[in-house]
Amino acid sequence: MANRYYQPGEARASRVEALFNAIASRYDLINDLQSFGLHRHWKRQMIRRAQVVPGATALDICCGTGDIAFGLRNAQGRVLAIDFSAPMLAAAGRRARRLTTPPGQPPPPLFVRGDALRLPVRDASANVVTIAYGLRNLADLDLAAREFHRVTRPGGRLLVLDFGKPTAAPWRVLYFAYLRLVVPLFGKLFCGDAESYRYILESLHQYPAQAGMGGLLRNAGWTEPHTTNILGGIMSLTVARKPSLSNPQTPI
Ligand SMILES: C[S@@+](CC[C@H](N)C(=O)[O-])C[C@H]1O[C@@H](n2cnc3c(N)ncnc32)[C@H](O)[C@@H]1O
Repeated sequence: MANRYYQPGEARASRVEALFNAIASRYDLINDLQSFGLHRHWKRQMIRRAQVVPGATALDICCGTGDIAFGLRNAQGRVLAIDFSAPMLAAAGRRARRLTTPPGQPPPPLFVRGDALRLPVRDASANVVTIAYGLRNLADLDLAAREFHRVTRPGGRLLVLDFGKPTAAPWRVLYFAYLRLVVPLFGKLFCGDAESYRYILESLHQYPAQAGMGGLLRNAGWTEPHTTNILGGIMSLTVARKPSLSNPQTPI
């Protein structure tokens, strides 16, 4: 039976927004439980690989409750963080208000409501663009890859962290069984709705993951896409670069 939060086409975004609005208050807790706390480690890996230098501008898309945005800020970046779910942004805002900003430190991330496919951001304004567990939720991945490219400065980088698809059969079977049978129980227990967490596997089935990221990004103008498998490929981290103006990598 189709998942009520997964609807291809025009209704995709509104279903996804409804899903995250519904689970926002339990989102961080369930992340810790379902990943045995490992998502924190994977996110730290992404933040390290972002190589944000002091004063750089980072844009975190689909920021949710702000894990990546706060990490990029700790790496001395000026961070703009965007999401379309008001309750997820409210949770991020509560975290931001608890932060203290010692003199000389960058301010807390700026959390803004907006659509990942129509970013309220000027062309070529970010040095680094990150999206963690977000791309899989978007209605049009080609449009997303082009939109992220638009807002990135020449020479800037894109990092995409998300669930992956392991190629080793036993590991893949075990992992998909975990997503199908165990993860929905967290949704049932903490949100009263198993469908909300059954959505992860449904959305992953439709997502190109490791095998498709290179082609997807190259088609949108990114260069040097490189995907790292995490924990045998159950997660994947892709890094790509927007060509610098002196090296546009286009035929003359
Ligand atoms: C799985 S959460 C990831 C949150 C955070 N990046 C993290 O890693 O914990 C996905 C987030 O993407 C947001 N999202 C999904 N589609 C979006 C869209 N089209 N525009 C903006 N935000 C979107 C959801 O509201 C949700 O907060």
